[in-house]
Amino acid sequence: MINPFYLTGIIPGKYFCDREKETNTITSLLENQGNVLLTSARKMGKTQIIRHVFDQDEIKDNYYTFYVDIYSATSLREMVFFLGKEIYQRLVPKGKRALSRFLGTVKSITAAFSLDPVSGNPRINLQLGDITTPELTLEEIFDYLEAADKPCLFAIDEFQQIARFPEKNIEALLRTHIQKMNNCHFIFSGSDRHILEQMFSSYSKPFYNSAQPLFLDRIPKEKYVGFVIGCFAESGREIDPDAVSYCYDLFDGYTFYMHKVFHDLFARDTEARLIGKDLVSETVDAILGEGEHGYREQMASLSTIQKQVLVAIAKEGTVSQPTSGGFIKRNSLPSSSSVQKAMISLMESQYVTYQMIDSKRSYLMTDKFLELWLRLIY
Ligand SMILES: Nc1ncnc2c1ncn2[C@@H]1O[C@H](COP(=O)(O)OP(=O)(O)O)[C@@H](O)[C@H]1O
Ligand SMILES: [Mg+2]
Repeated sequence: MINPFYLTGIIPGKYFCDREKETNTITSLLENQGNVLLTSARKMGKTQIIRHVFDQDEIKDNYYTFYVDIYSATSLREMVFFLGKEIYQRLVPKGKRALSRFLGTVKSITAAFSLDPVSGNPRINLQLGDITTPELTLEEIFDYLEAADKPCLFAIDEFQQIARFPEKNIEALLRTHIQKMNNCHFIFSGSDRHILEQMFSSYSKPFYNSAQPLFLDRIPKEKYVGFVIGCFAESGREIDPDAVSYCYDLFDGYTFYMHKVFHDLFARDTEARLIGKDLVSETVDAILGEGEHGYREQMASLSTIQKQVLVAIAKEGTVSQPTSGGFIKRNSLPSSSSVQKAMISLMESQYVTYQMIDSKRSYLMTDKFLELWLRLIY
């Protein structure tokens, strides 16, 4: 039997939980020629909802859709490389006409695309090194999107990365192109809400007002509980709603962590007639057990003060003022200046992130499993 709790890849519509309102909002914004700025905490479901939107009939049937994740890109050149490759790969199954239009436009990299002399199938041989004139290639790519024989939608995931590119004025460059386009609209998405909001909502920035912001929150508890009950019922098993609700609260409604627990729980061979809280707890313990070795190594790579601060954050859950006397005293930490230094490095290495509550920062751990483990151990 297939496990309905998908952890990777494309989730079939049937096992995609809720997000109806958000899906409709994004779909209709795109259909009305708007761009969307999609943000949320990590692992809440941005990437999956983008895929889900692109899988809607009214989108699938009428648009070319493209998706790139630029998380690992460190330069404009690399981003252009990803864009070019994605377009090519998506167009191959659409046939020769669609493809030749693309190849005819991206002249600066045409040499990287060829036909297999034996089978006649299109071959791609695009290497990062082929992008020798990224700005020109980018322009050609946008020219293609503008001239394509169908309207296009392009999702650029982890878009905040462009702020880290070494080239100057990337935002202005992209904005100049995007502003002119009628045939292609964009979803920009990412977890770094702070960088993205600055990019899109400061008056002085090129992307100011150029996309409709949408914040993806937790899936509502009752929707998630109903979904999990349904998934278990399909396999002839019953799960106690309180057990699902317990898991939801334990992970504060962060989609991936709950989903991982139910994925593993579903895979367990249990005799229980009614699956209760105890089995959820056992599954969580097993996950932490599997992660233990890695967690220990992670902790060994931190300095004493970094570890102390991280443990304190794990214990408190959320912390609004990590350098305040109260937090320092409660957790027997040294001076506030050393805590501040530790916070900076913990944020950089992404152990710690923050959410905005009433326009105030509140710090919390990024990895909810590691958070639970730290609470247990220290
Ligand atoms: N609507 C959903 N239905 C079912 N599972 C989901 C849904 N949204 C997210 N998930 C689960 O959470 C994981 C993380 O989602 P993802 O879209 O990768 O998050 P993000 O891009 O925000 O970091 C997915 O791999 C999947 O297991
Ligand atoms: Mg993602």
